[in-house]
Amino acid sequence: MKEEEEALCEEEEELLQSLPKEKGWASQYMYLYQQFWCFPPLVQATISFQKHFQAKHNDIVIASLPKSGTTWLKALAFATVKRHRFVPSSQNHPLLNSNSHTIVPFFEFNIYGGEDNVIPDLSTIPEPRIFGTHIPFPSLSHSIHNSNCKIIYICRNPFDAFISHWHFFKTILPSSLPTLTLEEAFEGYCEGIHPFGPFWSHILGYWNASKDKPSKVLFLKYEEIKANTNFELKRMAQFLGCPFTKEEESGGLVDSIIELCSFKKMKELEINKSGKIANLIENKHFFRKGETGDWVNYFSPSMIEKLSKVIEEKLGEFGLFF
Ligand code: A3P
Repeated sequence: MKEEEEALCEEEEELLQSLPKEKGWASQYMYLYQQFWCFPPLVQATISFQKHFQAKHNDIVIASLPKSGTTWLKALAFATVKRHRFVPSSQNHPLLNSNSHTIVPFFEFNIYGGEDNVIPDLSTIPEPRIFGTHIPFPSLSHSIHNSNCKIIYICRNPFDAFISHWHFFKTILPSSLPTLTLEEAFEGYCEGIHPFGPFWSHILGYWNASKDKPSKVLFLKYEEIKANTNFELKRMAQFLGCPFTKEEESGGLVDSIIELCSFKKMKELEINKSGKIANLIENKHFFRKGETGDWVNYFSPSMIEKLSKVIEEKLGEFGLFF
């Protein structure tokens, strides 16, 4: 076993040496693996996921760039899909006792990202299984591409996503590393050198897939879910093949899911005030402001001009943000 681990480390090291690298956020090296930037442990985790994950036809994958509303979408999807097993208004609902990242694990962090390189048995998870990922669309495992499983992508205005990511990242950085300044993070972001970036190719990968295969990929926006949660939630349930019945709607079920997953409710839960994910990241860091437009409090005029230009250049023709 020890020899196998050593061989794996050598292989990993060789692969890393062959990849383009740049100093990323907080002066740590990031590597360009399959056209996206990530820190070394994620390269190995992504390879393991690509090699081992076997999708089932009824799996659901929640995909996003970090800080786009993943925590919220995972909760909404879980509460909707499992509503017959767990009544959303119940005092024992799993989302009241566990953070949604614990209930809906990430492939690259929780499932295939363990330091022990153990491949978990996922076959016994109750169906439909729900997973999360920040891995870009082209790098998802073949079995996800080839099965009938469904993907829901949540996209957020890059201005807000950037500010949220900067806050989160500097909060979780070990104290041994230098502080991540807004300016440093911003430069990297505009060049596409940030975790799972460039943001424009990540967004476009899922956007194009949602146009090519609308029954496989649903593209949602954080701002639209915020503005009309009821409508977007029903759209999601319809897409997942479990639309709400008239009786469910008139009986207040949709409203109780929205309430259960609301920012205010989730932020105030004891588990989200004091709990941790995988004993590492404190749950409270996933709930900051939960607003749209907070970026105005941080951007200087020159930053606005610079990021607007990048968005216009890379995403302008798709009319996604303006
Ligand atoms: P802010 O930092 O702007 O507040 P992710 O879940 O992808 O990590 O994204 C985190 C962002 O979503 C944070 O944004 C967080 O506050 C916000 N968020 C978390 N839960 C939410 C909820 N239930 N409703 C709305 N926004 C939520």
